[in-house]
Amino acid sequence: MDKIILTGDRPTGKLHLGHYVGSLKRRVELQNSGEYDKIFIMIADAQALTDNADNPDKVRENIIEVALDYLSCGLDPAKSHLFIQSQVPELTELSFYYMNLVTVSRLQRNPTVKSEIQMRNFETSIPVGFFTYPISQAADITAFKATTVPVGEDQLPMLEQTREIVRKFNSVYGETLVEPEALIPENTICSRLPGTDGKAKMSKSLGNCIYLSDSEEDVRQKVFSMYTDPNHIKVSDPGNLEGNTVFIYLDAFATDEHFAEFLPEYKNLDELKAHYQRGGLGDMKVKRFLNAVLQQELAPIRARRKELEQDIPAIYEILCQGSIVAQKEAAKTLSEVKASMRINYFDDTELIQAQQLKYNS
Ligand code: TRP
Repeated sequence: MDKIILTGDRPTGKLHLGHYVGSLKRRVELQNSGEYDKIFIMIADAQALTDNADNPDKVRENIIEVALDYLSCGLDPAKSHLFIQSQVPELTELSFYYMNLVTVSRLQRNPTVKSEIQMRNFETSIPVGFFTYPISQAADITAFKATTVPVGEDQLPMLEQTREIVRKFNSVYGETLVEPEALIPENTICSRLPGTDGKAKMSKSLGNCIYLSDSEEDVRQKVFSMYTDPNHIKVSDPGNLEGNTVFIYLDAFATDEHFAEFLPEYKNLDELKAHYQRGGLGDMKVKRFLNAVLQQELAPIRARRKELEQDIPAIYEILCQGSIVAQKEAAKTLSEVKASMRINYFDDTELIQAQQLKYNS
């Protein structure tokens, strides 16, 4: 069986460090591993509209931002098909058929949908499209017969729901769809990088994100204003690591090589943490180190983005070509699905013959 990747992001803003460590960095590694037969990376504009129906321009404007972020991180259109969800109408059609295989109560139990409904204060006014987006996500994944879906941990309930739909479909209509596996970051910190304020996830609405496209100065300022241990006032005070954003980021990003290069007094993060807990290590020094680590990671991404920004029509062309490939692929699966579901009438000569015989007798 071919090894196929499908994953994507909603174009509701520029991508940030949470996206990067949660999924994007891994995708680039998987792409370059050469182990996958096909790779599809989707800008999920249709899904973004499920909770931005009244703000289509936001979605429209962010397509290019996400595409630039993808390409500047190293996704390569020669190896990965980058496409736009709404340009593949087969996905909508698949969703409609999958809806028959999922109950309302099952959707209500989906933990990601539950918490998103709370976050958006949707309780009494949930758009139906939003409520059913896990089904549309199952269509996204299965349309490409994806075996592997690299995502952040928050997407695990979506994958579980997809797998259920696949099993149900195959048991009712016969073996047709492929059950995908989620691939989440090995480093659990990376699955839920908190915002710079230490609160929950990075989220545009909370204003606590470091964006991949932030300038060097913006990154520096954001790092220096990060939430640490509020009781660590004097350098000599013992510091607390729990909920300490700067150390959480170091857990996600810092390697022993970074220590050798930028902070050779310590061999590794464990030594730095021990000193902080003992007292005698100031926040400023730790922040300066984190800034150096992040700048090193982000500088090449920023530089590539600057170059890519010089030719925007070329970026749209990449998305257009990717969408053509994706559409053809999804059409193949849809036609198999329709055959399995017995809704392929005109190419089924047996059916037509049999009906004729019935009337002849
Ligand atoms: N739900 C994902 C997000 O919030 C985007 C997405 C849509 C997706 N369809 C997908 C991710 C299919 C993986 C597979 O960013």
